[in-house]
Amino acid sequence: MNASIGVPTDPFAKKSLRTSEHHIISHCPEDTVRIGAFLGKYLAGGSVVALAGKLGSGKTCLTQGIARGLKVPKEIYITSPSYSIVNEYPGRITLFHVDFYRLKDPSELEDVDLDETLEAGGVVVIEWAEKFPGILPEEHLFVSISIMDDQTRELHLTAYGQQAAYAVTRLLHDLSVLAR
Ligand SMILES: Nc1ncnc2c1ncn2[C@@H]1O[C@H](COP(=O)(O)OP(=O)(O)OP(=O)(O)O)[C@@H](O)[C@H]1O
Ligand SMILES: [Mg+2]
Repeated sequence: MNASIGVPTDPFAKKSLRTSEHHIISHCPEDTVRIGAFLGKYLAGGSVVALAGKLGSGKTCLTQGIARGLKVPKEIYITSPSYSIVNEYPGRITLFHVDFYRLKDPSELEDVDLDETLEAGGVVVIEWAEKFPGILPEEHLFVSISIMDDQTRELHLTAYGQQAAYAVTRLLHDLSVLAR
């Protein structure tokens, strides 16, 4: 996996920590889509976004935003993979959307070669990633979503590696500009 592809040499990247942690509050589903879209803008080929959180916390909602940021055509509706384990969407970078929910054992993933997908330069978003943390590559962005109330979600982002830290830094910057 080449995690350095697409990391521009700008001050943001230089300031990025190898591991960083941040919280973002989302006040409605549209907020979560927007957060995902900002994030998707800054993901490079070979990135993994691991999503954790209870049923209905907003993992698919965030993935819909990531798809938007990756320029997956708007007409394509992103839903959790149900019959297949992985859905593939064309974009500025191909998006692979994986859901571990129904899987009992990582061996059921044998049809999905994560390393091959990453080496091919895709972005992989995994729902229920906490089920099999051992298969995540060392460098990834972990997003745990907590349900605060009906409309409010807390997104806890942990960036492992420079590329993930870079994407989070830029996401936070875009959100701060939006809030001005
Ligand atoms: N701030 C918010 N962000 C995201 N979703 C929200 C928010 N507030 C309310 N919701 C609602 O929560 C639900 C989130 O559904 P979503 O399918 O994205 O969850 P999920 O985590 O993927 O669930 P599952 O584990 O079943 O795959 C939607 O019905 C959405 O309207
Ligand atoms: Mg889902």
